[in-house]
Amino acid sequence: MPEENGGNGRKTGLLDVAQEKAKVLKDTVQEKAKQQIEELKQPEKTQLYRSVFRVKHEDEPRSRSLGVLSNVFFHLHPAKVNRDATRYSFTWGMGGITFYLFLVLTFTGVLLMFYYHPSKVQAFRDVLYLEHDVPFGKILRNMHRWAAHMMVIAVWLHMFRVFLTGSYKRPREFNWCVGVLLMVLTLLLSFTGYLLPDDQLGFWAVTVGTNMARATPLLGNEGPFGALMGMTPYNDVRFALLGGSIVDANALLRAYIWHCIAIPLIAAIFMGVHFWRVRKDGGISGPAPVMLESEIKEEKGVRPVILRPSGVDQWAK
Ligand code: HEM
Repeated sequence: MPEENGGNGRKTGLLDVAQEKAKVLKDTVQEKAKQQIEELKQPEKTQLYRSVFRVKHEDEPRSRSLGVLSNVFFHLHPAKVNRDATRYSFTWGMGGITFYLFLVLTFTGVLLMFYYHPSKVQAFRDVLYLEHDVPFGKILRNMHRWAAHMMVIAVWLHMFRVFLTGSYKRPREFNWCVGVLLMVLTLLLSFTGYLLPDDQLGFWAVTVGTNMARATPLLGNEGPFGALMGMTPYNDVRFALLGGSIVDANALLRAYIWHCIAIPLIAAIFMGVHFWRVRKDGGISGPAPVMLESEIKEEKGVRPVILRPSGVDQWAK
């Protein structure tokens, strides 16, 4: 022990201990640095990686299935997909494109909200400001506008293809109805967004649109049975839409809240239901079963369609 060696011995002892400790420290740091360099070469072996990805991703069947089952995104996909149902020539990809456009609209819409005030004084000025002064403002606004037009077109095309392929039939009747609701919501999103720039185009479009609401059966003051229900220009459905009897500040605020919060939220919920039903109804409907020639077995009663390498389908003899 250094204390027992007296004056000099004690000093030497302390130095030895200090040197010993410094050496141990140096070795430890070197060891740790080496270990970290090794870990960087194989990041999947680090504790940080393991804390994020719980399953070992070794290339073996069990670990691969666990990887799929414990991952929320993979889990959303069906375990098996009808190969023919995913052909673009069958789906036109229009449902997916509609959803993609909805995501683009949500993203660009949130960015637009940073610049836009839903008030009569500010709204149109904000649009001019975006068009001329905000960096990338013009492209941001146009991305939102064009994606909106394209979403309306895509949703119609999607509905058209579902109709043409007869995919509305059993067991998909319910999903067709959810789809109709989604289409109405898409049109409402488009309509409410039209008023927001508070320009002449939007003002008159909403004037005409909401005037039509006057003629709603039961709920409009000029509609069938409206008067019987006690409807007047000051309590009917048009009044509720505009928040008054003219297109003014209240109408702008209502359109803004419907457009930015209520309708997107309702649409997102129904899209969730729509996608869930696609899976529960047995996946995308798909055309008649197509088999590769190599897969054809002599089965009685099965008339497989052969997919030629050229992509031309024809009935097997
Ligand atoms: C916001 C609107 C909509 C979105 C995002 C959407 C999305 C999708 C997606 C991704 C699919 C999978 C197949 C595909 O891509 O074609 C699908 C299938 C389907 N959609 Fe839509 N859809 C919408 C509106 C509609 C409308 C307006 C209808 C009809 C009125 C409809 C009826 C159906 C039906 C019946 C299926 C199942 C088709 C099959 O199994 O072949 N959807 N939808």
